[in-house]
Amino acid sequence: KLDPLPPMTTKFVSILNQVCEQCYKDFAPDKLEVGVREHILQDLEDFVRRQFAGARLQLFGSSKNGFGFRQSDLDICMVLEGQDNADDLDCIGIIESLARLLKKHPGLRNILPITTAKVPIVKFYHIRTGLEGDISLYNTLALHNTNLLASYAAIDRRVKILCYVMKVFAKMCDIGDASRGSLSSYAYTLMVLFFLQQRNPPVIPVLQEIYDGEKKPQVLVDGWNVYFWDDLKTLPSRWPQYEKNTETVGELWLGLLRFYTEDFDFREHVVCIRQQARLTTFNKQWTSKYIVIEDPFDLNHNLGAGLSRRMTNFIMKAFINGRRVFGTPVKVFPPQY
Ligand code: GTP
Ligand code: MG
Repeated sequence: KLDPLPPMTTKFVSILNQVCEQCYKDFAPDKLEVGVREHILQDLEDFVRRQFAGARLQLFGSSKNGFGFRQSDLDICMVLEGQDNADDLDCIGIIESLARLLKKHPGLRNILPITTAKVPIVKFYHIRTGLEGDISLYNTLALHNTNLLASYAAIDRRVKILCYVMKVFAKMCDIGDASRGSLSSYAYTLMVLFFLQQRNPPVIPVLQEIYDGEKKPQVLVDGWNVYFWDDLKTLPSRWPQYEKNTETVGELWLGLLRFYTEDFDFREHVVCIRQQARLTTFNKQWTSKYIVIEDPFDLNHNLGAGLSRRMTNFIMKAFINGRRVFGTPVKVFPPQY
């Protein structure tokens, strides 16, 4: 039911490519900004340790996964030394007293504990940098999925650029805010990675399916296997498809929009980056939702579970419009994109 796209021109593919590259240049933080985040973290850890002696703070999310924006929030995970998991901790109590403590920090404002969410957090605003942040407790799987995403980002620079383009697209189309009923950045990143794994030839491997020996190793965290191949130096010898795909970022971006509007059957299939073989919504018993995105480690978690029918349509329309806009060669490209 989609209109066929007019023939692509080499000139327009090159423009698309420039737009993608520029998007990355405009939004990626530089070394200095990365340092600022580490500095804030250290300062917060020192402060928190006044009351919680064994506290360790760690950054995760886009401050660490390779897809951070200058204004991305600070996602921080707190653990207590000598305490492996949160099983016998009063997390809500800790979050509440952490909030009371942070209110005394002169560099922070708008301290807000949120204890009703699936993951209890304290939100804060860092005055000097204008960055927002939140601290969660024992968000261990998130630390692991951050490392997984960082590994994919490090394999090929096109991965990084496309994930930035996708995030910018999602923000511009107003489809990238899970707290307002759409999908999180994390969900869109998984969609990009899945597309790059399914491309022929693929741009990235399935790191969770590469291992030595007969059987996939088990590294259990919160009951889930978080194993993946993280030794990227040896990847060329472990993955025969390494560097076989030579498409430009512009081609891949249009390819992605076409993939999710023309090829991928959302009714049948799950966006799933942990295996090369197609996974069906039927297998997962996730047939009541149209957009189904499986977390790579927490296999019970569908990132699309919170989408309403209306929002699903709104997101699909954004992709359909994107396909038309980026897939239709025009002579004069507006300077402001
Ligand atoms: P931006 O902040 O938008 O730049 O991207 P982000 O990747 O940091 O996203 P966000 O702040 O929403 O989430 C922070 C991190 O939490 C993500 O990178 C994931 O590691 C993790 N995360 C977010 N949502 C989920 C989820 O639904 N399930 C799991 N397991 N982890 C999540
Ligand atoms: Mg974040």
